Amino acid sequence: MSNEILKQIQELTYNGRLDVPQATPKPAATQFTDHADIEGMRTAGKLAADVLNMLLPFVVPGVTTNELDIIAHNYIVKEQGAIPAPLDYHGFPKSICTSVNDVICHGIPNDKKLKKGDVVNIDITIIKDGYYGDTSRMFFVGEPAPHVQRLCRVTQESLYLAIKMVKPGVRIGDIGAAIAAYAHKHNYSVVEEYCGHGLGTTFHGEPQVPHYGVAGTGVVLEEGMTFTIEPMINAGKKDVKHSGQDNWIAKTKDGRLSAQYEHSLLVTADGVEILTLREEETGLI
Ligand code: MF3
Ligand code: CO
Ligand code: CO
Repeated sequence: MSNEILKQIQELTYNGRLDVPQATPKPAATQFTDHADIEGMRTAGKLAADVLNMLLPFVVPGVTTNELDIIAHNYIVKEQGAIPAPLDYHGFPKSICTSVNDVICHGIPNDKKLKKGDVVNIDITIIKDGYYGDTSRMFFVGEPAPHVQRLCRVTQESLYLAIKMVKPGVRIGDIGAAIAAYAHKHNYSVVEEYCGHGLGTTFHGEPQVPHYGVAGTGVVLEEGMTFTIEPMINAGKKDVKHSGQDNWIAKTKDGRLSAQYEHSLLVTADGVEILTLREEETGLI
């Protein structure tokens, strides 16, 4: 790690929960018609995406996931005036999720240093003015091996192809079926225990968005719905095992790699708006 980065980390103080402002609770909703609500969702999505961009230069060999948690926590609270949604969510102990290598999701930041060749999903959820933004991406630590790169690319492509399908009238089962077909075509498996979800003025609401399913079935999408798609794709088998505090951490049972990408979406009159789009993705989707 460069001295500059180390210095920045050392200058940060993590006051834990004390410095987190109180949420302004709004009635739980995951579908909106009011312009003000939609603007609130746009702002929250942009802030969540900005955290991923901000973290990029810090994800280098030698950094610990606890340090990444501290950096993200401070940025969210102090720079963005927002709330890190994971902290204390059903007892989750940290402000971000960091899922390294065979960890599928809900990895808890710790004091282990990342090393060259690791691959880590960082999942950011923030609350701004009561609205939630939720997004994640994979980060390579050093140069990734070709098989790692391929798993991540296919997972990201499965998210993008699903996003492109979203518009009023499409059914939840259509989306899941398309993601699973794409993963299986590449000889990967799809995690079934965790799904995308409605989000809005609540973290996890209706509808559930499985990354597998039967086309032509499930909830019909309508204008104004806001939800995530967040496929978790495994290099080996789909099976999950749990560990860590309150069994939060989900790992692959076979110890092989898992990848995940996530965006928050708004169903528009004739398509979709990606609320957590990053600049580098324009043109990709
Ligand atoms: N951000 C995760 C999601 O995409 C949820 C994390 S819950 C936590 O739904 F408590 F682990 F943070
Ligand atoms: Co989510
Ligand atoms: Co998330």
